[in-house]
Amino acid sequence: MSAADRTGISSIHGGEGCQLFSPVRLGEIPLANRIVMAPMTRSRAGVNDEPTDHMVEYYRQRATAGLIVTEGTHPSKAGKGYFRTPGIYEPAHLAGWRRVADAVHQEGGHIVLQLMHCGRASVKANKAPEAETVAPSAIRCGVEIPGPDGKRAQADMPRALDTSEVAGVVEEYARAARNARAAGLDGVELHCTSGYLPMQFLSTGTNHRTDPYGGSLQNRIRFVVETLEAMAAAIGPGRVGFRIFPGNPFNDMVDENPAETYGALLRAVDGLGLAYLHLIHAPTPELDSLKLARAHWTGGLIVNNNLDLHRAGALLAAGQVQAVSFARFFISNPDLVERFRRGAPLAVPDRRTFYSGEQTGYIDYPQLEALAGEHHSQG
Ligand SMILES: Cc1cc2nc3c(=O)[nH]c(=O)nc-3n(C[C@H](O)[C@H](O)[C@H](O)COP(=O)(O)O)c2cc1C
Repeated sequence: MSAADRTGISSIHGGEGCQLFSPVRLGEIPLANRIVMAPMTRSRAGVNDEPTDHMVEYYRQRATAGLIVTEGTHPSKAGKGYFRTPGIYEPAHLAGWRRVADAVHQEGGHIVLQLMHCGRASVKANKAPEAETVAPSAIRCGVEIPGPDGKRAQADMPRALDTSEVAGVVEEYARAARNARAAGLDGVELHCTSGYLPMQFLSTGTNHRTDPYGGSLQNRIRFVVETLEAMAAAIGPGRVGFRIFPGNPFNDMVDENPAETYGALLRAVDGLGLAYLHLIHAPTPELDSLKLARAHWTGGLIVNNNLDLHRAGALLAAGQVQAVSFARFFISNPDLVERFRRGAPLAVPDRRTFYSGEQTGYIDYPQLEALAGEHHSQG
């Protein structure tokens, strides 16, 4: 796809004085504007799961976002589910993330690391031979997971974590948070949705435990509450956020009563002083998760999902949220903030290179200035 093909698609325009461009503080993290880059797995990490030069460049190009939330990053070998996702537990990982953080900071941006332990959503071929696939209960994910060749294969049968092991997994997250800070990142976001380990504990379909981490509502939320507490103790609550999507069916997830589950979770962690809640909002007749969040969460709130400039501006203007996040627009518009500010056309991302392509479809989407130069030179 040529640079010219990627432009001239959208007709949304930013208005003067739009709150999108005003600064805000989420916990300890200052944002220059309210436009957050949502986390996106792009499957381009190095052979040892370390951030590469291309990843440094990718995040640097997008550093005008008020905040970047990185792609899901595994806190341990067992936490890896997908091919070529980065880690944050070996010196090479920290060194790579240090270069990403420095590049974003040099451009005046801020960046937090999304911590993603996939639990049962994993195939062995994607991770180190010695890494086990663990979950709250030995219930296989019914959805196939793409392997190293991109072809989908049956997910591993997970081993149920013993009660005595759970504290160790919580500590993996705390250590990952410390590592993220040691690498110069501004904080961490706990990935609690999309069928990964925290959501596996939260949901009735995947948590059949009979110990203090399963059964009752209070027991099902315990793992996430303890993990957020441990991360907050490790690096300070004002540098910890978490992401939820109540009722998300992705990766074969079922919960009998998401409103009850997430209402209880939000009430349990509301007093921790965390930096923000990152909500994927897809309202249904049964559940409006933004209403749920507003009822049970008093901290900073970032809302995501299928937003455009108008909807994002309206959410901010109504005082419903502190910031909004965009994922796919940031793939193809590295200078999304500037394009919104100018009411410039938005490029459409090429789905074929979401998870493959090395630099193609990754660091070759042009900035507006480059496009202007191109048009000028073409006369
Ligand atoms: C290529 C791709 C990878 C994604 N990877 C992640 C991820 O690692 N962690 C996560 O929480 N969400 C992930 N998401 C979901 C996005 O953060 C976002 O919630 C979703 O795309 C909806 O936002 P949008 O309409 O602005 O694209 C991913 C989305 C895409 C398109």
